[in-house]
Amino acid sequence: MGCDTFRVLRSGCASLVLVLLFCLCFPSSAYDPLDPNGNITIRWDIMSWTPDGYVATVTIFNFQKYRHIQAPGWSLGWTWAKKEVIWSIMGGETTEQGDCSKFKGNIPHCCKKNPTVVDLLPGTPYNQQIANCCKGGVITSLLQDPANAASAFQVSVGASGTSNKTVKLPKNFTLYTPGPGYTCSPAQIVQPTRFFSSDRRRVTQALMTWNVTCTYSQFLAQKTPTCCVSLSSFYNDTVVPCPTCSCGCQTNSSGCVEPNSPHLASVVSGQNGANPLIQCTNHMCPVRIHWHVKLNYQLYWRVKVTITNFNYASNYSQWNLVVQHPNFDNLTQLFSFNYQSLTPYASTNDTAMLWGVKFYNDFLMEAGPLGNVQSELLFQKDSSFTLEKGWAFPRRVYFNGDNCVMPPPDAYPSLPNASPRGASPRSYLVLVLLAAVILQYRQP
Ligand SMILES: *[C@@H]1O[C@H](CO)[C@@H](O)[C@H](O)[C@H]1NC(C)=O
Ligand SMILES: *[C@@H]1O[C@H](CO)[C@@H](O)[C@H](O)[C@H]1NC(C)=O
Ligand SMILES: *[C@@H]1O[C@H](CO)[C@@H](O)[C@H](O)[C@H]1NC(C)=O
Ligand SMILES: *[C@@H]1O[C@H](CO)[C@@H](O)[C@H](O)[C@H]1NC(C)=O
Ligand SMILES: *[C@@H]1O[C@H](CO)[C@@H](O)[C@H](O)[C@H]1NC(C)=O
Ligand SMILES: *[C@@H]1O[C@H](CO)[C@@H](O)[C@H](O)[C@H]1NC(C)=O
Ligand SMILES: *[C@@H]1O[C@H](CO)[C@@H](O)[C@H](O)[C@H]1NC(C)=O
Ligand SMILES: *[C@@H]1O[C@H](CO)[C@@H](O)[C@H](O)[C@H]1NC(C)=O
Ligand SMILES: *[C@@H]1O[C@H](CO)[C@@H](O)[C@H](O)[C@H]1NC(C)=O
Repeated sequence: MGCDTFRVLRSGCASLVLVLLFCLCFPSSAYDPLDPNGNITIRWDIMSWTPDGYVATVTIFNFQKYRHIQAPGWSLGWTWAKKEVIWSIMGGETTEQGDCSKFKGNIPHCCKKNPTVVDLLPGTPYNQQIANCCKGGVITSLLQDPANAASAFQVSVGASGTSNKTVKLPKNFTLYTPGPGYTCSPAQIVQPTRFFSSDRRRVTQALMTWNVTCTYSQFLAQKTPTCCVSLSSFYNDTVVPCPTCSCGCQTNSSGCVEPNSPHLASVVSGQNGANPLIQCTNHMCPVRIHWHVKLNYQLYWRVKVTITNFNYASNYSQWNLVVQHPNFDNLTQLFSFNYQSLTPYASTNDTAMLWGVKFYNDFLMEAGPLGNVQSELLFQKDSSFTLEKGWAFPRRVYFNGDNCVMPPPDAYPSLPNASPRGASPRSYLVLVLLAAVILQYRQP
């Protein structure tokens, strides 16, 4: 789809090659070139059979390097294949009980044909917990905190089959986080999971196991972007702002909040965080990333990155940033953020994940005086270093896994008296490609 737009822009043989390249590099499916295997896997392990069903441990593993699930957390739904009921749940609960009127005496926890399960909150009594439960549905990303990248609950199911021949797999899995964005595969029977005892001297195994794989797509998640990038430099006074209407336009009906409004406090406290409450700006994004090229030493150069929250209705816990810039190969020092290369084995080691230091700045506060975090990056100049043609600015930026809107390359702060005629054909192609990438990501 993005290709048609692009084809109109240029014609000729070279552009056909480019179009092909472009389509290969940026397919419009859920595939993420920075995290090609990223997925959330939901695993059902049947731990025991009961007179009318089974007890299963359901574990949600986040196998995504930089995408996490923050409060208010995940909710997992499915459709039963037969007339199953949930007798009880540990470490989670269904949102609705449904119609259990045909039961006498023992009433099931849930009789719905399509139950939705959510996590319990921290502080749940110990006798209702299981391992990895009760974190309010929050799951960290794999790189940021692997120990907390899973969530689990245990269901006791009735009116189902009672052996691996008669059990029917649940269908139509849905994962909300809490909005849409994930597409889940059908359940598939896999090798039973093997569990090691705590001293690792004995192995037990599930009686039956099935997996469901869910993948993320920003298109499904929301039509509009959620973040944008602004740029500045020591060598030019111009601050290049986020493009106007990056995430929405400031209309009478957009209901944004003026930061100096006397009613601000009452508006903010009067709502429960369910809807975004965005500060009125030209870009209308909840989050802005500012990249400032601060200093140019002989062998090194220094950048200051500031992340600003414009949403009065949301704190961002365990936020992360993914930045692509060719000089990440030679990042020398990073102040007050954590860092990991996302492409450590690729020939172009140019993409980094940055995130806050635990208990120091991993929590990006709601819009207001405390609603920002910042860091400085020191790079050792690599052979392609130049302050010309916007080289010092990032190629791509993601906040919490969502692609941020960049200013158009021709607006980047330029060196004093740099002549536009100096642009080589090659850099012209790079610009066209960049424009195409932007077009691609702005498709509805
Ligand atoms: C999901 O992620 C895991 C871990 O990276 C990987 O082993 C598995 O192949 C992935 N599944 C799919 C369907 O991509
Ligand atoms: C069901 O269990 C039997 C033994 O109890 C085993 O041989 C068989 O492979 C299992 N089938 C599946 C689909 O797990
Ligand atoms: C799958 O689940 C969704 C959401 O619960 C529902 O809208 C849809 O009708 C279901 N599809 C089937 C085939 O059950
Ligand atoms: C099923 O999911 C588990 C997740 O822990 C994974 O280790 C296993 O490889 C998956 N199996 C298949 C066949 O995808
Ligand atoms: C916005 O409101 C102002 C005054 O309240 C009005 O003059 C203007 O036409 C409105 N614009 C739109 C696009 O509705
Ligand atoms: C953000 O966190 C602060 C401190 O924990 C809290 O006081 C505030 O209510 C939170 N704001 C929202 C919108 O959740
Ligand atoms: C930058 O990093 C690359 C790859 O790690 C290395 O080959 C190169 O020598 C480094 N350049 C400088 C100037 O340190
Ligand atoms: C990529 O960069 C990271 C961090 O700078 C470094 O540890 C790693 O060795 C680099 N890999 C290659 C192939 O240069
Ligand atoms: C700063 O950059 C802007 C945007 O590229 C450019 O229009 C302006 O001429 C530059 N200022 C100077 C003093 O070079």
